[in-house]
Parts: sequence; C-alpha cells; structure tokens
Amino acid sequence: MTQPPRSSSAPPLIVRSIADLRAAVARIRAAGGTIGFVPTMGALHDGHLALVRAAQAEASHALVSIFVNPAQFAPHEDLDRYPRTEAADVARLAEAGCALVYAPAVAEMYPPGAVTRVRVPGVSAPLEGQFRPHFFEGVATVVTKLLIQAGADVAVFGEKDWQQLQVIRRLAADLDIPTRIIGAPTERDTDGLALSSRNAYLSPEARARAVALPQALLALKADLESGAVVGPSVARALAALAAAGFGPVDYVAVCEPHTLEALPDDAPLAGPARLLAAAWLDGTRLIDNLGVAP
Ligand code: PAF
Repeated sequence: MTQPPRSSSAPPLIVRSIADLRAAVARIRAAGGTIGFVPTMGALHDGHLALVRAAQAEASHALVSIFVNPAQFAPHEDLDRYPRTEAADVARLAEAGCALVYAPAVAEMYPPGAVTRVRVPGVSAPLEGQFRPHFFEGVATVVTKLLIQAGADVAVFGEKDWQQLQVIRRLAADLDIPTRIIGAPTERDTDGLALSSRNAYLSPEARARAVALPQALLALKADLESGAVVGPSVARALAALAAAGFGPVDYVAVCEPHTLEALPDDAPLAGPARLLAAAWLDGTRLIDNLGVAP
C-alpha cells in the first residue's frame, strides 16, 4: 500500500497487527492527516456510527478498532456469546467513510507473558465496579494499550457507558496519554432505549418492556429537577423498574458526575448530578444514564 488510507466511501484498510496499525497511522500523518479513534468491541449499531461521525468531525481520518476484550468479561459473563460480526461491521464502516479498521487477535493484544494491568482506583470502585469487579481493570488495560498503539489525536467514547468514560478520562490524564478524550451523547431508539449491542439478546416481548429503564430515569430526573429528595425519588424509580419486570436491579444511583460519589439520600440535589442505572431484564443486563441539573 503506497497511498495513505483516506476518509471516503472506499472500503477501509483492515490491519491486524500493532506494526501494521502504526505504519498505516504514520502514512496518514506523513500525508498531513489526523486520526480520530473509536475503540469498539464490534457488533456495530447506529450508536457506534455516531461515534465515528464525531471522530470524523475532529480529525481527517477515522480509525475504528474491533476487539472483543476477554479481560473485561468475568468467567460467568457473555464473552463466548458476545456477537462477532466483523464482515457486517466493516461494510457499515465503509459506508460511514471510515479509513482504517484495527482488528487484532487476542494473542496480538495479550501475547504470552503479558501480565501488566491498569487499575484506576476511586472512580472505578462504585456502581459497575461493585457489580462487575473485574470489568474496569480489563477496560482500563485494553484502552490504555489501544491508545498507546494508535497514537490518535482524539478518541471518542459513548456517554452511554458514563462511568467507563470517566475511568478513561482519568487514566489518560494520569498516564500522560496525549490523545484527547471526547464523550459523545447516547444514541437512542425511537422509544428512548439506549442503543447497545446487548439489546440483540432481548426477545421482542422483553425489548418492548425495556423502555421502562429510560422512562424510570426520565421520571427520576423530573422528580429531582422539581426539588424532590433523592432517596424517595430513587425508590420510585426502583418500583417502576420492578413493575416493568426488571430484576434484579443492580443499582439506581444519583452521583457526582465525574467522581461518581453517591450524593446524599436525604436532601434534594444541590448541583449537577448523573443518574445511573443497571438492571436485568429476562437475563440481559442493561445500563443507562442521564444528566440532571436542579
Ligand atoms: O465500550 C466498549 O465497547 C469497550 O468497553 C471498549 C471501550 C471498546 C474497551 O473494550
């Protein structure tokens, strides 16, 4: 390949090794281009394509990684059945004008003997950290490696995974990674359900009930914006989820937006907050979040 990959409707260049990724990035840079990076685990949906558009708004060339990261799944979780749809993903990325796809094998990312892991105490601890204790170490490790491997100008992550975005901002700052980290708003289906690769696990009947999750968060937001006390408002959200058949509900939480420390239960909000929820519906775990400003 003598020419750098370009942002166009031509199929993206697919690279699978760190060396080929760095060579492709170097060619783009040598031609005066910049790199907007979107790390993904594939099974791409319109939410991912919105991240690609956000990357393209910030850089001349979009780079998307597709890597189902074993380190962020616990042994009992859905690593084996996580959807792997690379051909369809690449076709969607071609339509979106993505220049470069990085799809490494597990052995490229975690070669034999690799033991170093990245932990981000504090912001990783509550919420997802409590219910999926292995998760953020796996995410932080792979995202650190991906950011170092790609050397992009900007990297875009969805606000749908709000706590993950805060963890990544923290690690990039703490490790002096020069890539600028950008959050992109959650993309939602017409009924309000946040787009997620795991929505594919829902039966049509469960999918219809899943809308209760964003509705519960919207009702909680309205309560808090009208000056209601946090604890009883959260209790109403939990009751609404139970009535819609969710169970168990891992958490409905009202937190400081960046540290994710829980805000007091016995008072109305005194400043901006983030509302975050994780709940199971017919064996599928869904998460969502919203911003609120009293
Ligand atoms: O949000 C995701 O899809 C993953 O957690 C990420 C950031 C690609 C790391 O594997």
